[in-house]
Amino acid sequence: PEIPVLTIDGPSGSGKGTISRLVAQRLGWHYLDSGALYRAVGVAAGWGDLDLADPAALVRCTFDTEIGFREDDSGELRVLVNGTDATDELRTETAGAAASAIAAIPEVREALKDRQRAFRQPPGLVADGRDMGTVIFPGAAYKVFLTASADERAQRRYKQLNDKGVSVTLPGLLREILARDARDAQRAVAPLRPAEDAVRIDTTGLGIEAVVERVLALVHE
Ligand code: C5P
Repeated sequence: PEIPVLTIDGPSGSGKGTISRLVAQRLGWHYLDSGALYRAVGVAAGWGDLDLADPAALVRCTFDTEIGFREDDSGELRVLVNGTDATDELRTETAGAAASAIAAIPEVREALKDRQRAFRQPPGLVADGRDMGTVIFPGAAYKVFLTASADERAQRRYKQLNDKGVSVTLPGLLREILARDARDAQRAVAPLRPAEDAVRIDTTGLGIEAVVERVLALVHE
């Protein structure tokens, strides 16, 4: 039988990461954080002091970068870039912005396709990203597109980063989120858009548990 895939796409701050991890946990399915792959290449590019305006160098960097995932003792997902734990660096806005620039290069997206599809393992996969339902797993059995107002997404990011002791301002974050959304939606390859058969859920004003329930209901119905 087919290994079921649930794709959860949406803009940054829509709650994708949190919701996807919880849903994967409840279903007992594997979890793919596709953004972490782009971020990992972004971090590796930073370590190599590469020019974000040099696509050829970034494509080479994509092929050369080894990306590993493992759970630590508390069940937290850690990301290894060329063998070094880069989980915290991956979460920074610098890494996000680098990821977004790198993600606009078609050869980079192509190079990461098979690595993403390899996550489809029994008993199932929850895939979190921008083009999971449109490009990577177009035949997925279940597709969700999460949205939230830009203000709410900036607030969530602010709280998240603040809790981690990262110093940011709300207006600055809102600006970055809007700029990243625009870049992700306007790029020529795999722009951020809902798959035609995706169920859209606006999470503005909704709690995490309410969204998790709605997503699980899709799989169980
Ligand atoms: O989801 P996250 O914020 O970690 O993603 C970082 C960046 O990676 C996004 O802004 C987007 O440009 C890119 N990305 C992508 N396709 C994906 C996942 C992430 O283009 N499937």
